[in-house]
Amino acid sequence: MNTVRSFSNILVTGGAGFIGSNFIRYMFAQPDFKGTIINLDKLTYAGNLESLKDISEQYEGNKYFFEKTDIRDKAALDICFTKYKIDCVVHFAAESHVDRSITGPSEFIDTNIIGTFNLLEIARKHWLNKEGNIDQSYLFHHVSTDEVYGSLGDSGLFLETTPYDPRSPYSASKASSDHIVSTYYHTYGLPVTISNCSNNYGAYQFPEKLIPVMILNILEQKALPVYGNGENIRDWLFVDDHCSGIWATISKGKLGETYNIGGDNEWTNIKLVNRLCEILADRKNRDKDDYKKLITYIKDRPGHDLRYAINCEKIKKELGWKQSLTFSLGLETTVDWYLDNLEWVKHIQSGEYQKWMNQNYNMR
Ligand code: NAD
Ligand code: TYD
Repeated sequence: MNTVRSFSNILVTGGAGFIGSNFIRYMFAQPDFKGTIINLDKLTYAGNLESLKDISEQYEGNKYFFEKTDIRDKAALDICFTKYKIDCVVHFAAESHVDRSITGPSEFIDTNIIGTFNLLEIARKHWLNKEGNIDQSYLFHHVSTDEVYGSLGDSGLFLETTPYDPRSPYSASKASSDHIVSTYYHTYGLPVTISNCSNNYGAYQFPEKLIPVMILNILEQKALPVYGNGENIRDWLFVDDHCSGIWATISKGKLGETYNIGGDNEWTNIKLVNRLCEILADRKNRDKDDYKKLITYIKDRPGHDLRYAINCEKIKKELGWKQSLTFSLGLETTVDWYLDNLEWVKHIQSGEYQKWMNQNYNMR
């Protein structure tokens, strides 16, 4: 039987991003969660507080707080830990888009490696100062990716024990931060856990990742850019199921351990794009071939990993985690979410979301 931890003041870094905002919403929906969430985010192009409008209306100033802070700013992190008496960190903040890491790796090194190191240093300082210094009442959780394991051939699955073999600046920066987090457990005894998850999809995903790009281009009847021959494989997981996996790890995971989270759901990119064409044709009462003919094969991504696929038996067996949604239902739900939230998309596409944040949060 695992000890179940509970926390009072959870610092969510990168809470204005895709998974972070879904995680905050997920936490407030848990009947047994009585704590406070502090969302710490620099608000890069990928951070959008409009994604948390409902949460901020319901909880801001009471159980939800927002701090516009860069994880590279150690002094600001220190102030934040003191101000809110942080006892759990769920670290999402990162530069997350592989294509951007190829054209501009430096932000990835700065945020994902140096930023994570800063956060660990401050977390360790406050953990050491904590009365009693009891492991079960303090935790640093690192949200990471399956991309650290590299690329699979036609067979095999990533296990927690698979050697790291990152191929892009993004995955190398996440691999590096995983290693640093792990050393803080082994060297300093800081209570940490790590999760490595496969590709997420769902509501509020920034429209530069595969699924939102395709949904929005189909709606605008634009070309659907498929890299290379479209045969690359990803293992897709609904974002809420990633959130429940993180919550299971934080509350019940063994300290110092890594848990893989995945969808048992491998799709080639081309099959997925075709499926999105079919769902949207159904919603719009159109012929699916009108959309499929928009598919355009373009130059491949440099170093494009062929296949990702996760073995997530450990989190299932040890923490009792399981997925709640089939891919078929999850994909339809996601398409419907974008159709119902075209205002949110429009604000991103026009840059209006930055203006909205300035008005509502008095930011530059
Ligand atoms: P995202 O790009 O949507 O969000 C990242 C958030 O981090 C944004 O709100 C951004 O403003 C913030 N941020 C960036 N740099 C910062 C800095 N220096 N200081 C403070 N905040 C900063 O990313 P996402 O898809 O939500 O991914 C979140 C985490 O989950 C990342 O660590 C990523 O590596 C990991 N992950 C993502 C996936 C996926 O499929 N998206 C899968 C597995 C793991
Ligand atoms: P992406 O959503 O960028 O996630 P990741 O690179 O982290 O897996 O891409 C998912 C897959 O889709 C990947 O194999 C690259 C491919 N892809 C395209 O074919 N076209 C696109 O426009 C995008 C954004 C991705």
